[in-house]
Amino acid sequence: MKLFFRFAQTATGALLLALAAPVAADPAKADGTVDAAAIYLRVCSACHGEKGDANSLARGALAKRPRNFTAPEARLRLNREYMIAIVRDGRPHTPMTGRASRLSQEEIEAVVDYIRERFMSAAPDRAPTPGSR
Ligand code: HEC
Repeated sequence: MKLFFRFAQTATGALLLALAAPVAADPAKADGTVDAAAIYLRVCSACHGEKGDANSLARGALAKRPRNFTAPEARLRLNREYMIAIVRDGRPHTPMTGRASRLSQEEIEAVVDYIRERFMSAAPDRAPTPGSR
């Protein structure tokens, strides 16, 4: 366990853990719609955290930490189109790699909407007051 923990603390370890996350055969629900929650948990939560707050398994190991989606600034700074583009194409020189080859456009949009509804709508829709965190 200790060894596993140390492995998870390295950037390569985190990346391998993220890549080794079990891949479900098909993230579609029985009714044919995309199961965005399942995609988020399977592909994104290792880095972004189960609660979207970046408090994740990989947090100490990532060269660059993801943003806390539940913070008020996230709602102010991230629009849907930008988020879709990042999930599709990634951010160069960061651990955020593009998913265009693994997720369909429909799945990418669904997982972004999931993040926005589940984590970002909880944030108050106002600018943070100076000095507050
Ligand atoms: C290997 C870790 C890792 C995984 C897996 C990962 N991300 Fe990221 N993500 C990051 C990091 C780190 C950043 C911040 C990049 C930067 O600083 O510009 C980021 C940035 C983002 C952004 C842009 C938000 C911003 O703050 O500018 C979105 C949206 C996003 N990720 C969504 C996702 C979704 C959806 C998934 C799953 C399909 C996912 N990420 C999987 C690490 C990851």
